[in-house]
Amino acid sequence: MKITVVGAGAVGASCAEYIAIKNFASEVVILDIKDGFAEGKAMDLMQTASLNNFDTKIVGTTNDYSKTANSHICVITSGIPRKPGMTREELIGINAGIVKEVSSKLLESSRDTIIIVVSNPMDTMTYLVHKTTGISKNRIIGMGGALDSARFKYRLAEALNAPISDVDGMVIGGHSDKGMVPLISKATRNSIKVTNILSDERLDQVREDTKVGGATLTKLLGTSAWYAPGAAVSSLVHSIACNHNKIFPCSALLNGEYGLSDLCIGVPVVLGKNGIEKIIELDLNPEDLAHLTESAASVKITNSLLTL
Ligand code: LAC
Repeated sequence: MKITVVGAGAVGASCAEYIAIKNFASEVVILDIKDGFAEGKAMDLMQTASLNNFDTKIVGTTNDYSKTANSHICVITSGIPRKPGMTREELIGINAGIVKEVSSKLLESSRDTIIIVVSNPMDTMTYLVHKTTGISKNRIIGMGGALDSARFKYRLAEALNAPISDVDGMVIGGHSDKGMVPLISKATRNSIKVTNILSDERLDQVREDTKVGGATLTKLLGTSAWYAPGAAVSSLVHSIACNHNKIFPCSALLNGEYGLSDLCIGVPVVLGKNGIEKIIELDLNPEDLAHLTESAASVKITNSLLTL
């Protein structure tokens, strides 16, 4: 199983590292446009192999797409990250051109690949890949909800003073500060609804902290986060590569599900060997459904800024 990661920045490198450490792929190719950068990251990571006990071969290349040929899964992290105070939507101009070019080049040498989009604004970039490549919708997946859900679980565990493994929760909707929909009403600690344990005020705080999870880190770090984004991507890749059929919220092209069409937005999907095997339609309460509908309207506004 060969995986390509485009972009050797912090998110791309962290993603390659987690994939390698999980030891399920034969090869990870990291591609970047900056001369020697991906080669350097690949070499550094390969020098951790004997220490971290993995057999995955990591190869770096400066923009040579022939090295990515016959990849089963390609992850696009390239583009500019946000700076403190910026929204993900402000990145659209530069990143749209990059994502369009990268996806078309990847498909030239990996015709049947599954594409995972990480570049922001992620839901719009995922939609762009659908519109410009024309490949089947199960093969294009946007990574946002898995990361936002991990941040939600972190905040829930903090509020509950519980270990994170006790907590379950999911964030759907757009991968944006305003558009995320943390499903508080469905979140649990060991099957106990968190709404039965935490006050409404505390849960409101968890919701707000989750929605600005990425922005909080951007402020602290001076650029966007990488460990949790890299780990989230590697979890999606793992489920596809090993056909585990795990459920993650991902940005998927909708065609009537949740009353929405002609956009990509975060909803729970089953990820297996064909990419998106199934879109799950949750039974949402009216409030969560209204938030999802509102989030979709805002993703559509960002989509309308694309020149297709
Ligand atoms: C974040 C970026 C990956 O939320 O969108 O950290």
